[in-house]
Amino acid sequence: MLTNLTLPTLNFEPAGLAPFINSQTIDIHLNKHHQTYLTNLNNLLPLIQVDGVEFSSLEDLIINVDRVSEGKKQAAINNAGQVYNHNLYWDTLTTKANSESAKMSSAFGSALDGFGSYEEFKKQWKEAGLSQFGSGWVWLVTDKDGKLSIEKSSNADNPLFHGRQPLMTMDVWEHAYYLDYQNKRADYIDQFFGYINWQFVSDSFDKKITA
Ligand SMILES: [Fe+2]
Repeated sequence: MLTNLTLPTLNFEPAGLAPFINSQTIDIHLNKHHQTYLTNLNNLLPLIQVDGVEFSSLEDLIINVDRVSEGKKQAAINNAGQVYNHNLYWDTLTTKANSESAKMSSAFGSALDGFGSYEEFKKQWKEAGLSQFGSGWVWLVTDKDGKLSIEKSSNADNPLFHGRQPLMTMDVWEHAYYLDYQNKRADYIDQFFGYINWQFVSDSFDKKITA
């Protein structure tokens, strides 16, 4: 039975993403926003795992959220979604030095070439982030054959709820960037590309494709 989920350990120091994101934003985002979703989810878990319904992991809950009773389903979507989304967001990010020294597998490099060029990937990613109206997320998703695509989602939604496998994500809720960029979401997205944890994304791709 799924109980007592905890905040992830970041792979960087709180100041390690400056000047992309300052340590105050990291602190509030992780220890206030993410923590609130986590507390809500932990309080909800005993209420939704009843009458023979149990989940083995956060991913299992998201994939099988239809098993949650109707009265508690939206709360489960909101809080499990936001905990999963933020976990993946922190895994997606790393220091500039780590991002630059990452070694992508040849399989993942080839899959990324499917966008035509890295510049084209960045263009499509940025367009997805800018066109997401209000709060939401941008996703890199792989299908079972290793074909990559970019998606966006609103609020707590994510591709895993719909049977698709996310590899990385970018938070475009204002709390992710407002202290650093105010209303300039485009500038936040431009800087994001320098801090992607390509090692994590490539390793995740390899695991999902060979699983
Ligand atoms: Fe967030």
